[in-house]
Amino acid sequence: MGMPVRARAHVYQMQPYRPSKTPEQLMHELGLSELIKLSANENPLGASPRAKEAIVKYLDKIHLYPDGNCTILRDALSQFYRLPPDHFAFGNGSDELIHLFGVAYLEPEDELIMAHPSFVRYEASAQLNRAILKQVPLTPDFRHDLKAMADAITARTKLLYVANPNNPTGTIVYRNELERFLERVPDHVLVILDEAYFEYVDHPDYPHGLDYVGAGRNVVVFRTFSKAYGLAGLRIGYAIGRPDLLDPIERVREPFNVNTLAQVAAAAAITDREHIERTRAFNRAGLETLQAACERLGLRSVPSQANFLLIEVGCECARIQQRLLRQGVLVRTGEVFGMPTFLRVNTGTPEQNERFIEALQYALHK
Ligand SMILES: Cc1ncc(COP(=O)(O)O)c(C=O)c1O
Repeated sequence: MGMPVRARAHVYQMQPYRPSKTPEQLMHELGLSELIKLSANENPLGASPRAKEAIVKYLDKIHLYPDGNCTILRDALSQFYRLPPDHFAFGNGSDELIHLFGVAYLEPEDELIMAHPSFVRYEASAQLNRAILKQVPLTPDFRHDLKAMADAITARTKLLYVANPNNPTGTIVYRNELERFLERVPDHVLVILDEAYFEYVDHPDYPHGLDYVGAGRNVVVFRTFSKAYGLAGLRIGYAIGRPDLLDPIERVREPFNVNTLAQVAAAAAITDREHIERTRAFNRAGLETLQAACERLGLRSVPSQANFLLIEVGCECARIQQRLLRQGVLVRTGEVFGMPTFLRVNTGTPEQNERFIEALQYALHK
């Protein structure tokens, strides 16, 4: 009998990711015949038909290892963005890119700066690498406080995340704010603009992160196929940046981190602009419907540029969420973001949006 096996000490301070129950499990438990899932910002229209065709075509190839260079997809994106192929790095979802940038860049005691609330996976990457996590509260109108984030930078700051649009608020930073902010960021800091919801934005002052990638700044942009492209189940996201900034990722990633079906589906999906335009139109109409319903019900909602809406329900939203669930509508509670009186709901099809509104009305007045 010797010492028990111990993992690295700080690993015990991390919380395991607790997977949500699947729609099938929830339906079985609650005896529901249908469940409308509006909790994970997925695309209610599904994937592009071209992506599905590509998957079927490649089913005969899944006994072979994937292309570790993602060549077909790399070339498709290179054409699409008019950037050299070496400006892209790929991950098993942008979740994996967040992980890889942490592993590659963060030394113990380095600082990672992010907004609060913002996307929670940035926190885990700081904890895993024993970095210091600095969370800067959003402004009263739920937007990134870029001035305070710049003030928080020190000689030990390494990574700084700006989710634009932000999750869970759907708010954006504007071009002039971002440019003023970037002027203040010193050379030893890498700014990651996480543009997971890029395709949904139609605000005229939205800055395209790519403009700063080309300008020699220490900026990397993350995009994903999980949201507007409807490929969340395949897991594929990508980083766009200068090759010297992406090189450390190539060193630490696994050789086959992106599977074949994800690569070919993504390469096909990027060419299907019709599907993206339909998705955007559905989302715009959906946001309008949801916002109008909030006004009617006397609920405050945060103006959103993404495919979801953060709604203040005026009481513990966990109760409201349960009441919605029993009516067959699944939304996200704000507790996980430290906002226990808010719920986050993504836009669905017109029928799904109406079902949500009816269910919400009932849940509030019960
Ligand atoms: C801001 C933001 N970044 C990254 C992700 C991760 O996306 P994925 O790993 O599916 O590409 C999400 C998903 O919700 C997100 O909201």
